[in-house]
Amino acid sequence: MAGCSDAQSVLNPHGAEAESIALLFWITAIGGALIWLAVVGALIYAGRRHRKPYSQASAARLVLWAGAVVPSILLAVLLGYALALIPDLRPLAASADDDRLHIEVIGEQFWWRVIYHPPDGQPVVSANEVRLPVGERVTFSLKSTDVIHSFWIPPLGGKMDMIPGRTNTFSLKATKAGIFRSPCTEFCGPSHALMAFTAVAMKPGRFDRWLANEGKEAVNGKPGLKPFLANGCGACHAIRGTEADGAVGPDLTHLASRKTLAAGSLPNTEDAIARFIAEPDEVKPGVRMPAFGMLPQDEIDAIAAYLARLE
Ligand code: CUA
Repeated sequence: MAGCSDAQSVLNPHGAEAESIALLFWITAIGGALIWLAVVGALIYAGRRHRKPYSQASAARLVLWAGAVVPSILLAVLLGYALALIPDLRPLAASADDDRLHIEVIGEQFWWRVIYHPPDGQPVVSANEVRLPVGERVTFSLKSTDVIHSFWIPPLGGKMDMIPGRTNTFSLKATKAGIFRSPCTEFCGPSHALMAFTAVAMKPGRFDRWLANEGKEAVNGKPGLKPFLANGCGACHAIRGTEADGAVGPDLTHLASRKTLAAGSLPNTEDAIARFIAEPDEVKPGVRMPAFGMLPQDEIDAIAAYLARLE
């Protein structure tokens, strides 16, 4: 129960779809509890108060009504209600070419490539964090480059798999601002449990300002860029505005503005960045990034100091 209100709970809805799911859950849970109380009450009544046999006819009536008719009606009503929710859960209008904000999320072992496609503007590449404006329906297109992953922001709505070779499209609408933890929900390898992203629902004006900044090039001129480039980091990672233009790993242009590091594995601090550079495989078994622990510590620290300022 302590987990019911946290950043990863379906019982703490902040989105239109999650509100429907939570309401259905409460109706089912409370209805189930009431029926359970009625059955236990009948059991106690039969055992304590009514200790004489029923006639054949009244026993048959009891079985017919309490065992067949009433449960059938209740389940049919519940089924009808749940089916009526489905168009809400997966709006058919979600397509990659509507005029809404469209966010492409691509599952990788073990991180998330995130590309924002605003209706009017250039695509913005980011990673491991999904931000969306409150009150606007956003279309997601979900892909994978390697194995099946699954995309889920529990306080906003239902989940959908990310399957290699196909694009799954759905939409979500945040109704309240908040910061949520979104775990990968399909086993995808040794660091499946370390594959999460932060979802941030924010006021539309703040979101627009954030996206405008996210689309800018990195602010430059820090000494750590030199060892970053000299050690080949730019072959895998892009930092827009520098020579680093690799597309294998996460885009680092605005790394410091993210809430977490390494897809939810570490807090986003300078020390954690240095640790991840030196021993990524210790933090995240099976990670594709090679370890750079052989570099002199002052070079690692300089790179970490540089990355930690890329806001
Ligand atoms: Cu990606 Cu589990």
